[in-house]
Amino acid sequence: MSFQDCGRLDNSEYLEDPVLSNEMTEDQESGSFDKVEYWSKFYKSDGDELEFYEWYSAEWLPEFVSTEVDKVDGDSVLDIGCGTSPLLFTLANGSSDTSERIQELKLVGVDFVEEAIEFLKKEAIAQSVDIDFRVMDVTQGLQGIRSSSFSVVVDKGCLDCFVTGEGTSKLAGYLKEVARVLKGNGSFLLLPVNFANIRHLLQTGEIVADTDADGVRSSSAAALEARKRADSATTDVQGTSRHGLEVHHIVLYQQKHLYICKLGPCEKLSVTCGGCGLNMEASYPKLDKQCVCGNALRRFALS
Ligand SMILES: C[S@@+](CC[C@H](N)C(=O)[O-])C[C@H]1O[C@@H](n2cnc3c(N)ncnc32)[C@H](O)[C@@H]1O
Repeated sequence: MSFQDCGRLDNSEYLEDPVLSNEMTEDQESGSFDKVEYWSKFYKSDGDELEFYEWYSAEWLPEFVSTEVDKVDGDSVLDIGCGTSPLLFTLANGSSDTSERIQELKLVGVDFVEEAIEFLKKEAIAQSVDIDFRVMDVTQGLQGIRSSSFSVVVDKGCLDCFVTGEGTSKLAGYLKEVARVLKGNGSFLLLPVNFANIRHLLQTGEIVADTDADGVRSSSAAALEARKRADSATTDVQGTSRHGLEVHHIVLYQQKHLYICKLGPCEKLSVTCGGCGLNMEASYPKLDKQCVCGNALRRFALS
């Protein structure tokens, strides 16, 4: 299984019966997902002009982001590891009933693949939308971005690059940067498809498998070793995270979970079904497989 195999998780055939390999691909063994060469090759792979590409697309996400911006009385959104996603364009174009504040949002997208950012810059000019796209390696620090400057930071598939192989050594630095640029009351919206227990990962910096994720399997000794090494540096003696990000709310969409993370401790984790809005008492991650509305609650994991 590679990122390429499951780029479009909305393929319902695939979602209903995910067939997962028991072998790690070469890419995963070598931990290529954290390398610019891997992604550069991906975006240019067919030799044609680049086009918009949405990873494990989530048609509800733009609306969710807008709502979250409103909730935190925000003015800015950063899409981190934006690739060639149209997410910020959807936000910029808004809808007829979008509030004025949403229309005046400061929108910034960063990715370390130059070609992807060049493509988005051209599109922004063509569509006359005001979005600031920048080439940046998020693990090297978000240079030029002030601390506490974003109301909402969105990560769709970027954290996934730092949970295997050599990428694990970059996880701590990545989370530290997200925490740095997030406003005190801001939200970090995380949409992952990795195997890790996200809550545990944010709290301790440790990468352990989430038993609730479909597709989680035993991994090779090398991969397990890499996970064990994963950044104990973010954990202090009390076991609380130094970067300060914690999962506060989880919305369970069909096979995908959206983690709403905040700076500061979570008093009580809340869990909502994204299908019908039902709030669940069930302590995550011990979830039933389906909500009463039929929404699949177990999340898909690319392991
Ligand atoms: C799975 S893709 C998701 C792209 C986009 N967010 C979407 O949902 O369509 C992961 C993205 O993270 C980017 N990425 C990985 N590591 C990065 C880093 N260190 N700095 C900036 N971008 C990075 C990759 O170039 C790639 O575009």
